[in-house]
Amino acid sequence: MTAALIDGKAHAAALRADVAAGVTRLGRAPGLAVVLVGDDPASGVYVRAKGKACREAGMASFEHRLPAETTQDALLALVRRLNADPAVDGILVQLPLPDHINPDAVIATIDPDKDVDGFHPVNVGRLASGLHGFVPCTPLGCLMLLKDTLGDLSGLEAVVVGRSNIVGKPMAQLLLGANATVTVAHSKSRDLPALCRRADILVAAVGRPGMIRGDWVKPGATVIDVGINRVEGGLVGDVAYDEVAAHAAHITPVPGGVGPMTIACLLRNTLTSAERRRMKEAA
Ligand code: GUN
Repeated sequence: MTAALIDGKAHAAALRADVAAGVTRLGRAPGLAVVLVGDDPASGVYVRAKGKACREAGMASFEHRLPAETTQDALLALVRRLNADPAVDGILVQLPLPDHINPDAVIATIDPDKDVDGFHPVNVGRLASGLHGFVPCTPLGCLMLLKDTLGDLSGLEAVVVGRSNIVGKPMAQLLLGANATVTVAHSKSRDLPALCRRADILVAAVGRPGMIRGDWVKPGATVIDVGINRVEGGLVGDVAYDEVAAHAAHITPVPGGVGPMTIACLLRNTLTSAERRRMKEAA
């Protein structure tokens, strides 16, 4: 078997066009504030890409680039200003932050109804309880790709490798919400290859280049590779692509798979925030 490619770029383009149409219907430009502290080059690239995608969807992008020495108090003060700013529908503070700033304190200060990253404990709780909130963009993009590829996920065996707050844990909640049977595997799991071989849906989010091998994958499985690892010669995922593609039925490439969906989902969440505000104001 040779796996069919799941074209994240094409799915993301379609979602971005939907969002742009939603912005036109809304009749005003939703605003996304992106805050970057310090000069991590990879973060700088992501922040630029987010700003460009916003403008292309007809949204307003507010970029706040702060020096690495910024104090936690100064950052919290900026977040509070953005919470109160009616032009801002979504707030994203790019992670990682410098060591002297506690990310949990920053996330807890963001208004949960502007937390388009879905990282605030209130949104984590809403997701776990099946309530409307904001869902982290990367796992939301993965779920959309899975539903578009497979349709109904009910009863499928899903294995998520990785238990981060940003991807693994919310991914597991989303799959559970879609009626999959979910296993979350991690660095302490026993016999990871055997766990992975059970999966109809295998999501790899560990940040280790090529860790998932061909013989870990059940024939016909759908494999979602969330890894973005910089190695000599370019970007690679967490999945040993050529080996795994020989077993799987569907697989996301790196780059061009999950990555483009993440930004498209950020735009989707920002539009959702603006739409919810309109409904609240009309009520
Ligand atoms: N750093 C890596 N991924 C993300 C993300 O989705 N949101 C934020 N805020 N920072 C990140």
